[in-house]
Amino acid sequence: MEKTLFFIKPDAVKRNIVGKILKIVEEEGFKIVQLKMLRFSKKTASNFYAIHKRKPFFDDLIKYITSSECVASVLGKENAVNELRKLVGETDPLKSPPGTIRRCYGTDIQRNAVHASDSVENAKIEISIIFGE
Ligand code: CMP
Repeated sequence: MEKTLFFIKPDAVKRNIVGKILKIVEEEGFKIVQLKMLRFSKKTASNFYAIHKRKPFFDDLIKYITSSECVASVLGKENAVNELRKLVGETDPLKSPPGTIRRCYGTDIQRNAVHASDSVENAKIEISIIFGE
């Protein structure tokens, strides 16, 4: 079973929609293999998003991700990485297809409710950063 890293961002946690979002992923056939609530430190967030270091939105992204609690999970399913990307939608909620998590629950391109790994390789790296394995 392929694994991917999924986390619910501060905007969605604050809006009390953690249960709703986890219900959607479970109903779509993902197994919750690991689950925890965490507050990203600046160091962990910068490491997690290292690929965006030179982007103009990097500092704001780190501020936002470390601003309050997130709910992180390892999800398992056949073809989990691609299947979850489809369910999550595009980075910008407004450009996400109807029915996707970001279209339904995202606020804007930064506060887009959730994160999902974009490749099997990155899923392994992201799982090790957050769950330490
Ligand atoms: P995520 O898929 O977690 O990966 C990088 C994050 O940076 C992204 O979701 C958004 O939260 C944020 N992001 C990406 N592009 C932009 C942008 N153009 N402006 C602001 N934030 C962005």
